[in-house]
Amino acid sequence: MSSRGRSRTNAGAALAQRKILCIVTGGISAYKSAWLVRLLVRRGASVRVLMTAAAQRFVAPLTFEVLSGNPVPLDMFAPRSWVEHVDLAQWAERIVVAPATADFIGRIAAGLADDLPAAAVCAARCPVLIAPAMNDGMWANPAVRRNIERLVADGRTIIDPGTGELACGTEGTGRMAEPEEIAGAVEASFGGRPLEGVRVLITAGRTEEDIDRVRYISNRSSGRMGFALARRALELGARVTLVHGPADLPAPAADEVKRVGSAAEMRAAVMQALPRCDILVMAAAVADFTPSRTGRGKMRRSDGPVSLELSPTGDILAGACAKRRAGQIMVGFALEESGGEAAAKRKLRGKGCDYIVLNTIGPRTGFGAETNRVTVFRGTAKVAETAIVSKDEAAAAVFDALLGDSRLRKAGS
Ligand SMILES: Cc1cc2nc3c(=O)[nH]c(=O)nc-3n(C[C@H](O)[C@H](O)[C@H](O)COP(=O)(O)O)c2cc1C
Repeated sequence: MSSRGRSRTNAGAALAQRKILCIVTGGISAYKSAWLVRLLVRRGASVRVLMTAAAQRFVAPLTFEVLSGNPVPLDMFAPRSWVEHVDLAQWAERIVVAPATADFIGRIAAGLADDLPAAAVCAARCPVLIAPAMNDGMWANPAVRRNIERLVADGRTIIDPGTGELACGTEGTGRMAEPEEIAGAVEASFGGRPLEGVRVLITAGRTEEDIDRVRYISNRSSGRMGFALARRALELGARVTLVHGPADLPAPAADEVKRVGSAAEMRAAVMQALPRCDILVMAAAVADFTPSRTGRGKMRRSDGPVSLELSPTGDILAGACAKRRAGQIMVGFALEESGGEAAAKRKLRGKGCDYIVLNTIGPRTGFGAETNRVTVFRGTAKVAETAIVSKDEAAAAVFDALLGDSRLRKAGS
């Protein structure tokens, strides 16, 4: 999922003069949208509002007209509104749908344009941020999940709903993110620092497992992907600890950089830093096997044939997941042959992590390449997917997906 939500930038700086189209749909949390519009206006944005017919049953358009200082067109076929859906979509630099009902999510996922708000989303060329709000059963419904995945694949940003008391009286996941969080997400989408206050631990590069004093077993990882992730996390304002093995290029200047050699050293460094991080991203290519015995000196050809016994290394990601504290977000990487989705999801389940980033082995993807193609899964849901892009862009897509995670709002606050 690509979204962001906890910018702590100075109110006003990022949104001054920004043109934001707010779409209000027919959920009980429509009353909170009045506050969202107020916040956006206060932060300097120019705000227009569209409402579905159902939304007008919850809050009067007059409220939004007064708060935004602009008329709220209601009827697609009224003379004043004939081109309003296209005009407003073109005017807007961001569209934010809050609350987004299950119904509206379904309509925009299907590309429908049967009222002014849906037509505006359909005609949009700017980023669209969507803050779902619904009963927990609706949020868990497979059809809603499919529609959310579809929207993510279409490049829309989902601002995760929170967990807690719902308007229907039950407890669960589905309550709309708070207006301050949504305003922060809009602000961050213009280049704020949404990870300010969040501590990210990233591993990168390869490991080297000694055979003797001069030889080792390793792999083709260049460190590019992990370093790109560290750079992106820094750009987003995070405090970054980078644990990296040997790499083909210099490491970025993270807040803390620890260089290690073997898988065992990497494991020790990760475990030491783990309690202090909010997000662990395990992008390093850690050796799965290490020589059972390491020669003390240099093995000589004249000593005759050598057979190498390899023992499995400790699984760093699984070990970290087993020791995680509440609220920590664990992200693994899976390098698979083409079509490795099932294997990546198995890895996610097996390790107990929250997200898995699948990259495939290919001439322009995976180890060593300058470019990559990544697919991010959260549980079984695909939350981000790129074409073959630079590793910097792939890193941005990974963090866009993480930024929607409601646990980050607590970590950064
Ligand atoms: C009191 C009440 C509260 C509702 N709250 C929600 C809600 O929070 N989320 C939701 O998806 N639908 C909710 N609905 C159902 C929507 O209003 C209904 O699906 C409507 O068709 C949505 O239309 P729209 O998507 O065009 O706004 C609620 C309905 C009622 C009567």
